Amino acid sequence: MLSAKIFEQLKTAQWGEQIVYRDLAADPLPHLTLDAFADTTVLDEFLAADTIVIGAPMYNFGIPSQLKAWFDRIAIAGKTFRYTEKGPEGLAGGKRVIIALARGGFYSKGTPTAEFEFVERYLKAAFNFLGIEPEFVLAEGLAISPEHREQSLQQALGETLRLAA
Ligand SMILES: Cc1cc2nc3c(=O)[nH]c(=O)nc-3n(C[C@H](O)[C@H](O)[C@H](O)COP(=O)(O)O)c2cc1C
Repeated sequence: MLSAKIFEQLKTAQWGEQIVYRDLAADPLPHLTLDAFADTTVLDEFLAADTIVIGAPMYNFGIPSQLKAWFDRIAIAGKTFRYTEKGPEGLAGGKRVIIALARGGFYSKGTPTAEFEFVERYLKAAFNFLGIEPEFVLAEGLAISPEHREQSLQQALGETLRLAA
């Protein structure tokens, strides 16, 4: 719901036909194998994109394995990053990556379970490695109570307006 809302807010007439929608749950990518490197469809799609909107629910403290399988297809040495004498260098800069985070509990800074948060931290590190600073919209505490859910979703939907502006 959040990623769809972000997409709606950002979409402009110029985007026209140039939109690719990937439902990684309905149409999952196989886990990475050496053979899988031969298929560059996902990498090519990523390299061609200016703006990428991702929905990232927390599953057992981390990202869903389907999303990990997608990231494994785009983190390619020589294409999206490289190692230099000064360390790793991201090669995919200049893209806008917006990530909608959803989680049942609370993991923000200052909460007792903040240390268990591996979705935002992972995605920030992973995209930074490719030279991209991702932007996040967060809805948390969704499973705590209907009131928390409503309040958190309304706040996140408000954030999507700010992003589009
Ligand atoms: C398999 C599974 C594991 C989950 N693990 C966690 C978790 O570790 N921490 C958490 O706060 N919420 C967890 N949740 C709740 C989801 O993060 C939350 O429902 C989120 O809104 C899921 O997005 P979705 O409704 O689009 O799938 C889990 C949900 C599922 C289905």
